[in-house]
Amino acid sequence: MSEMRDLIGTLPDQLRWAADIDPPMVPLRSEAVVAGMGGSGIAGDIAAVIAEAQGARVTVHKSYGLPEWVGGDTVVVAVSHSGNTEETLSAAGEAVARGIPLVTVSVGGELESLGGAVARVALPDSPQPRASAGRLAGAVLRVLEGSGVLASTGPDLREAASVVEEVLAGADAEVDRIAGALRGRVAVIYGGAGVGVVAASRWKAQINENGKAPAFWATLPEANHNEIVGWTAHPDLSRDSMAVVFLDDEHDHPRVTLRSIVTRDLMARSVPIAGVVSSRGISPLARVMALSVIGDLVSVRLAELANVDPVPVDIIEDLKQRLAGSGE
Ligand code: F6R
Repeated sequence: MSEMRDLIGTLPDQLRWAADIDPPMVPLRSEAVVAGMGGSGIAGDIAAVIAEAQGARVTVHKSYGLPEWVGGDTVVVAVSHSGNTEETLSAAGEAVARGIPLVTVSVGGELESLGGAVARVALPDSPQPRASAGRLAGAVLRVLEGSGVLASTGPDLREAASVVEEVLAGADAEVDRIAGALRGRVAVIYGGAGVGVVAASRWKAQINENGKAPAFWATLPEANHNEIVGWTAHPDLSRDSMAVVFLDDEHDHPRVTLRSIVTRDLMARSVPIAGVVSSRGISPLARVMALSVIGDLVSVRLAELANVDPVPVDIIEDLKQRLAGSGE
């Protein structure tokens, strides 16, 4: 079994680790911005979907600086596994410069030594940020709870841990089937607005980084208003070289559920449907993690089928080094 597959198996323990930490003491605020990129940034996407279900406001920021509107009634959470991601450091620096409470979540790096943070959550090290999704998301949720933006997150973290454990125990056949259908193809992952699309973006990133393969995501209902037309253009090309996975969440709007069924029926004329995966669990956190972990496993299976090591992402490191060497 690969190292990355073993790391995915630690996801339930990661979520329980987060459930066991105390929410940090930070100033109470009415809303939050979570700044982070890639395997760390997904923690913000997960937090935003949970916030939406609670009627709270969490904005995800995946670039330099901070939006102009961010001000005194906001807490900024900067999440970077390495602590050295320049976009996240830029957002964190901007929060300090504007006097907005900043909480950092990282293993170490420059983020740890940045002055001016009101609190810091130190993560245990891991070979890759994306293998630490449970701790990253869990830590961000605990911070948002500490700042009063989210209600208690411990029970959802524990439920998500149990649901992921169940999924891991019984996913082999589904994973083999979907990976077999995606093998050698460009994957496109569809999810409904909310839980589904966050999981779809995680699938895409995991297929990119673990499977070393191109992948894209789209969301319903939006794709019904544009993308569905695009699929009619080159059926010979898409039939041979692409495949689509649909992620369904039981809490999708009923019209989104209907759209998903009709959309795959129409799309099946021009592209193979590699699978339809359904969420499990009650809380949005459990549902997003249940959908995501199947994608994690599929991405590792794709790596095995392509005979590549899922762990290293050399081209990301090369790119970061090239940028670090340029003062632009
Ligand atoms: C690597 C990975 C990347 C990084 C991203 C940001 O496993 O998933 O997407 O997460 O380049 O780096 P960090 O997470 O260190 O801020």
